[in-house]
Amino acid sequence: MDQHTGRLTRDGIRIHEDADFAGMHAAGRLAAEILDRTAPLVVPGVSTAELDAQITRWVEEAGATSATIGYKGYAHASCISVNHVVCHGIPGAKTLKDGDIANIDVTVIVDGWFGDTSRMFVAGKPSIKARNLMDVTHDALMRGIEAVRPGNTFGDVGFAIQAYAEAHRMSVVRDFCGHGLGRVFHAPPNVLHYGRPGTGPVLEEGMFFTIEPMVNLGRPETKVLADDWTAVTRDKSLSAQFEHSIGVTATGADIFTLSPAGLFHPTYDA
Ligand code: MF3
Ligand code: CO
Ligand code: CO
Repeated sequence: MDQHTGRLTRDGIRIHEDADFAGMHAAGRLAAEILDRTAPLVVPGVSTAELDAQITRWVEEAGATSATIGYKGYAHASCISVNHVVCHGIPGAKTLKDGDIANIDVTVIVDGWFGDTSRMFVAGKPSIKARNLMDVTHDALMRGIEAVRPGNTFGDVGFAIQAYAEAHRMSVVRDFCGHGLGRVFHAPPNVLHYGRPGTGPVLEEGMFFTIEPMVNLGRPETKVLADDWTAVTRDKSLSAQFEHSIGVTATGADIFTLSPAGLFHPTYDA
């Protein structure tokens, strides 16, 4: 049965209907709430497997489904990417130590709608460099979101992110991108976190997609480890990522994954 609503653009990007925004808000809110509840558990000594086990329980308790368990053979409800891990870190027995930074990425399905968000957490007290990296990555995402409005292009969004990160002498990862989503996890377009103004598909009201820039303190190149998932910086430099799922409105962006507790940006007061 085809559950899809709306229509496709020439670029194959789905234009959703007004009523679809409510479904995305419910899914996005649950994903963000789960990360809010995870925040106090991110302390020195906790293993990433323990964090993932708790996230798995919360998804189940909510009556939702994890989008990542069983996705292309992935077996966990979260990706947890520590320090020089860029993305797709697999939860495991390794414990966090004081000063470690970690991205936790959760995608849930609620009534068929996908909510995908990630943010940075700190175990204990981060270094000044780590803090700057997280601040710049967060603010780069928000610059990208500010460029979202009908008539702008995806190149405008990528340019806003890249210009901000590079102005702070950091680099934007090219090997992974954001994506359309809705009643599917990954759909057109590829949302690049770099680009030239005025290039790429034109944004239209009703498009749903993620913006999820990964920013490195060193060079942008990555490699995937032998587990076929874990992506790391080639130069071992620290990497950070923030991700929101958003919808394009008549005037801008509707963020589906806002943190109900206001915890999207990490605090550094440990
Ligand atoms: N949530 C990730 C994203 O932002 C995808 C994770 S796929 C997984 O698109 F299989 F690694 F979990
Ligand atoms: Co995503
Ligand atoms: Co994600």
